[in-house]
Amino acid sequence: MAERILDVKNLQAGYGSVQILHGIDIYVEKGEFVTIIGPNGCGKSTFIKAIFGLCTFYNGDVEHNGEDVAGWRTDQLVRRGISYVPQVDNVFPSLTVAENLQMGGNRLSARVLNERIDDSLEMFPDLISRMHDLAASLSGGQRQMLAISRALISKPKFLLLDEPTAALSPLFQQQIIDRIDALRQSGITVLIVEQNARLSLSRSDRGYVFASGKVVHTGKAADILEDPEIGEYFLGGTGE
Ligand SMILES: Nc1ncnc2c1ncn2[C@@H]1O[C@H](COP(=O)(O)OP(=O)(O)O)[C@@H](O)[C@H]1O
Ligand SMILES: [Mg+2]
Repeated sequence: MAERILDVKNLQAGYGSVQILHGIDIYVEKGEFVTIIGPNGCGKSTFIKAIFGLCTFYNGDVEHNGEDVAGWRTDQLVRRGISYVPQVDNVFPSLTVAENLQMGGNRLSARVLNERIDDSLEMFPDLISRMHDLAASLSGGQRQMLAISRALISKPKFLLLDEPTAALSPLFQQQIIDRIDALRQSGITVLIVEQNARLSLSRSDRGYVFASGKVVHTGKAADILEDPEIGEYFLGGTGE
């Protein structure tokens, strides 16, 4: 059996006393690209946040590379090689592009930080000419590129992305998914929540469908894409 980078069983989590996730089972194998889809408000962002130590953990098993990390703090998870790109507010608009990238590695020495920034810009060269501009001046697509670049500064092995193509033009959606796919080709395991489900599933190995804080369906991405019932509800009809 392939090694699991993430193995979640019966995860129950929420915000304070408000329970949102009611027993989630999900696994991700090393090297996989896995997409979570589901209607607004069903707990997709909450799940990603729960994995990254940003929610209230109640119960369940969360293993990362076979190690029990349930309830761990975010900084501990980052040190284990997990990184996260939030759905909103994922760049500091009043800082420059360079400063945003530096924030991704504020514990690193200047030399290592600069190397990491150079590495991450290799994946997103569009940002090179914008390094001294404020993040506020970037287009939506460039902001997402910056947010992902920043998440790469910690050299993650496992990248969690929350709706990285939301509110982007189809051209930028495609570009962002292409770059994420390239990251996966480079050896980073990818778990993504996507509104543009068809596009993301087309690059995924497997998918999960959430509803009301539970997993209601899972399978190979190709099968989910062809499932008429799921297509009708989540994929925008039968596609082009
Ligand atoms: N910080 C929060 N405190 C309390 N409830 C929240 C918070 N964030 C989200 N929720 C609630 O959790 C539920 C799931 O939200 P979310 O995980 O963002 O859904 P999705 O990402 O699938 O659209 C929603 O009912 C939402 O109102
Ligand atoms: Mg969300």
